[in-house]
Amino acid sequence: MIKKAVIPAAGLGTRFLPVTKAQPKEMLPIIDTPTIQYVVQECVDSGIEDILIISGKGKRSIEDHFDKNYELESRLQEKEDEALYTQLRHIESMANIHFIRQKELNGLGDAIYHARFHCEHEPFAVLLGDTIVDSVIPVTQQLIDSYEQYGHTVIAVETVPPENVSRYGIVGGENLSNKVVRLNQLIEKPSVKQAPSNLAIAGRYILTPEIFRALEKTPRGKGNEIQLTDALQLLLKQEGIIATIIEGKRYDIGNKLDFLKTTVEFALKRKEFAADFEQFLRETIESIDRPS
Ligand code: G1P
Repeated sequence: MIKKAVIPAAGLGTRFLPVTKAQPKEMLPIIDTPTIQYVVQECVDSGIEDILIISGKGKRSIEDHFDKNYELESRLQEKEDEALYTQLRHIESMANIHFIRQKELNGLGDAIYHARFHCEHEPFAVLLGDTIVDSVIPVTQQLIDSYEQYGHTVIAVETVPPENVSRYGIVGGENLSNKVVRLNQLIEKPSVKQAPSNLAIAGRYILTPEIFRALEKTPRGKGNEIQLTDALQLLLKQEGIIATIIEGKRYDIGNKLDFLKTTVEFALKRKEFAADFEQFLRETIESIDRPS
């Protein structure tokens, strides 16, 4: 049983400046819902309600988002807006969320190391906030299923085109089935030449507490940061690691263009304005003057 999840959310969001100058990138909305709420929902849909968010400077609004807002709630009750009121009540009660601050930004590995007291005795899920996945079975649940089958650390992976391998952690190994690979290599943001495959780490993990010992021994890597991928490569010397090819559509919302594409796709799926929005898009594509 995986009962805990860790969501690292301390990063500066430099790829999204200037909007992230004074607001966390995790609060950027896909239409009307902050991205981190989709990630928390994935935990809940996978049966996890104990969530540790690794927070940092300037991230207070994430705490406020999952807190109770009495004033707003009573205003909605007065206006008899039952639907919105219910939505707000859902957000504050969807999970048991804890926060810990990462005071210095030393990379994803260091962020995960901050969870060591919370997750010392049991395996736990990690969900990176710059990925959301539309799938029938939540991706974290898919990983939990693999963990239960193999009893090893599990990493979500996805095939990416060669020109994108240098944006991700890339894994190599031996296929156990058409969706499970037993790993023999993990490398953070390799060149196409160095990459053992085009299977990219897709921002979801099931880790065991052994990762904390591995992180203690992990030197700074890519970007002079402590990389989770490097710690996993160290761990591989001791124990097996499984990669599961995820089933579902992954939205990489860590950069502006992909974020925009995600917003458009989600808008086209929203009943209340899908038809109008589609018509608007078609007309705009016909008529807009493109930048030269
Ligand atoms: C992180 C991980 C990388 C993974 C990626 C997925 O990189 O270090 O291994 O492939 O997330 O989004 P980041 O995007 O934070 O640089």
